[in-house]
Amino acid sequence: MYEGKSLSLVRLKSGIGHLRFDLQKSSVNKFNRLTLQELEDAVAVVAASDLPGLICSSAKDSFIVGADIGEFTALFRMPAVELQRWAWRCNAIFSALEDLSIPTVSIIDGVALGGGFELCLATDYRISSAAGRFGFPEVGLGICPGFGGTVRAPRVMDSTRAVEWISGGRQYSAEQALSVGAVDELVDSNGLMEAAEAFIHFAGADTNHLLALREAKRDPVSPLGEYRQALDNARELLAKGGANANTAPLRTLQLLGEAADKTRDDALALEHNAFAELAGSPVAANLAQVFINEQWLRGRTRELVAGARPVQHAAVLGAGIMGGGIAYQSALRNVPVIMKDIAQQGLDAGLAEASRQLRKLVEKGRLSEDAAGTTLARIHPTLSYEGWEAVDLLIEAVVENPKVKMSVLAEVEQQVSLDTILTSNTSTISITSLAGALQRPQNFCGMHFFNPVPVMPLVEVIRGASSSDSAIASTVAYALALGKTPIVVNDCPGFLVNRILFPYFGAFSMLVRDGADIRDIDAAMEAFGWPMGPAFLLDVVGIDTAVHAQAVMAAGFPLRMDYGFTSPMQILFEAGHFGQKSGAGFYRYQQQAAGRPAKVVDEEQLALVNQARPAEARAADSFSAEEIVERMMLAMCLESVRCLEDGIVSSPVEVDMGLVLGLGFPSFRGGALRHIDAMGAKRFCELATRYEALGPLYQPTAKLLEMAASGDRFYE
Ligand SMILES: NC(=O)c1ccc[n+]([C@@H]2O[C@H](COP(=O)([O-])OP(=O)(O)OC[C@H]3O[C@@H](n4cnc5c(N)ncnc54)[C@H](O)[C@@H]3O)[C@@H](O)[C@H]2O)c1
Repeated sequence: MYEGKSLSLVRLKSGIGHLRFDLQKSSVNKFNRLTLQELEDAVAVVAASDLPGLICSSAKDSFIVGADIGEFTALFRMPAVELQRWAWRCNAIFSALEDLSIPTVSIIDGVALGGGFELCLATDYRISSAAGRFGFPEVGLGICPGFGGTVRAPRVMDSTRAVEWISGGRQYSAEQALSVGAVDELVDSNGLMEAAEAFIHFAGADTNHLLALREAKRDPVSPLGEYRQALDNARELLAKGGANANTAPLRTLQLLGEAADKTRDDALALEHNAFAELAGSPVAANLAQVFINEQWLRGRTRELVAGARPVQHAAVLGAGIMGGGIAYQSALRNVPVIMKDIAQQGLDAGLAEASRQLRKLVEKGRLSEDAAGTTLARIHPTLSYEGWEAVDLLIEAVVENPKVKMSVLAEVEQQVSLDTILTSNTSTISITSLAGALQRPQNFCGMHFFNPVPVMPLVEVIRGASSSDSAIASTVAYALALGKTPIVVNDCPGFLVNRILFPYFGAFSMLVRDGADIRDIDAAMEAFGWPMGPAFLLDVVGIDTAVHAQAVMAAGFPLRMDYGFTSPMQILFEAGHFGQKSGAGFYRYQQQAAGRPAKVVDEEQLALVNQARPAEARAADSFSAEEIVERMMLAMCLESVRCLEDGIVSSPVEVDMGLVLGLGFPSFRGGALRHIDAMGAKRFCELATRYEALGPLYQPTAKLLEMAASGDRFYE
């Protein structure tokens, strides 16, 4: 009856219409302009037909994964009035589907998120298999649902749970969806069509039932009192989380409140307004860019792993914080792992840490006791090299000392097979220089995890001068198998992330030297969006670790990173204050009965840190938050530019995603290069010139100055 490039409409043997989504040249169905246009056409065909009912389904593994963010980001740059008009047009299609005179049903056998779930809500009935996954991810992208989700969800499902679904942005299983009325039936995958036809026969025979369903969808939300209470609760919960630059959750709650007592079309008009307002904001543009970047990275890693040998047996050398974490992550992801240390004490600590992590999963109900036991048994602690010839890939995670690392790597190379991949988790030491200890440097590369391993999503895979493509491919594949996002970077001191982080710490040291108060610096950077300010971050990283790494960075980039004054980190280090782990650093840490130690401001620590100030330093209150942010971000962004120009990575996306995933760079700002784009290279360079007296860290590159002159950007 209708054959498009994204969907088709046929009459089934039973006479019922079947609208099947199957977007050509795509592994998933998504709402792009083409699909929306074809949906409009197909619904018009149905309306003009004598079909007794309509079943909506997907020919792919997923139902519809949502809107095509890549395509819509360009759309979001339209003026608000046009955006509103666009939302109105899209909604007219969904409403036309909802208003068909025949019963309609969606059958879901996979992911139905965002626009995909909104389509299901526009039909009269929803039947899912256990594979169904539902939710509204929009607020995480800085927008609100825009295809009628905010109107239909509270009128179809348990309205109080709809508040949580829409403002929380989480995904839910088919069972959870059934329990809150987001789906009506749960059946086996192969029984979906039959159940759908049965509903259409039933609804066709009992028109009162259908009318009642539709009336509820057109009327105000009911019961209204409970709904308003749920909205208040959700607002309170959000407020507890503190100020958030992403205003989408709050604005969406406001929208739900305003639309609660309206009929469908009036409520939809309010949704269009809120959608246009949010979609046009820079926050939404940046979050959408991060989403696109993630997809880009996924595509890039798919290309990279083409020649990979799967890792079936892994090993770590060094059972410390990192080695223990990596062994745990490997075991959790079903890759058995040998964990070697030189001390039984180290092994015990590594295993204890893994057990602690597993216990947490059991307590949260995410792992059974049995599964936790099996997982732990995948870690084989040892003090010897017995059985190492079967290891496919190993990670060296011993102390950060080039001599020790080189001797350990040379030793283990004798114990493994000729094609075992050797990697190092070093944070700063050049991979090419470590390869000097090896007979088969082609089998060696860096595999830099971030702390804490189970939580941090990034792994830098570092290509040394001799690393082979197949060593890189297998390491990338192993990182993916561990559930991490790998980014391949070229070798240099600090690689990508730490090379950019240390100039940021350099800017921090200079601010303290010049008289700024660490509390003001932390507050300004947290207000900018960082999860923690630099002083607190240094305490968490460890002052000793930072001081050692700083020395490596200074040796690697003496012009920019050898600051020529005694940093506050150095002062703390020499006084034996290593940060959170030793109980004091920039702040003091008080052990608590449960959870992390509490951070407290301590006058003695402050006095120590302020020894970095010469007598002529400025008064602390002369530093505005603006100046602090400018000085910190200029240093970080300029080093990001240099990394790209030096070919440490090949694209702005990798720089920005390295920072978002490895450092917690505020994703609503999109990353360092995106930050320069937002400001404009011209204004950014002018700002850098204002601080040029601070030294070479603040010197824009010739290329950036060219970009400033030509108006070029890092992103389209
Ligand atoms: N801690 C972090 O935040 C972090 C983050 C990323 C990378 N790294 C890097 O990871 C590596 C390990 O750091 P960590 O924090 O886990 O250190 P750690 O001090 O906690 O652990 C090091 C472990 O290595 C063991 N060891 C020493 N020599 C050994 C040898 N010859 N053979 C086997 N085991 C040996 C020690 O007994 C100890 O258990 C370092 O290169 C570090 O720079 C650390």
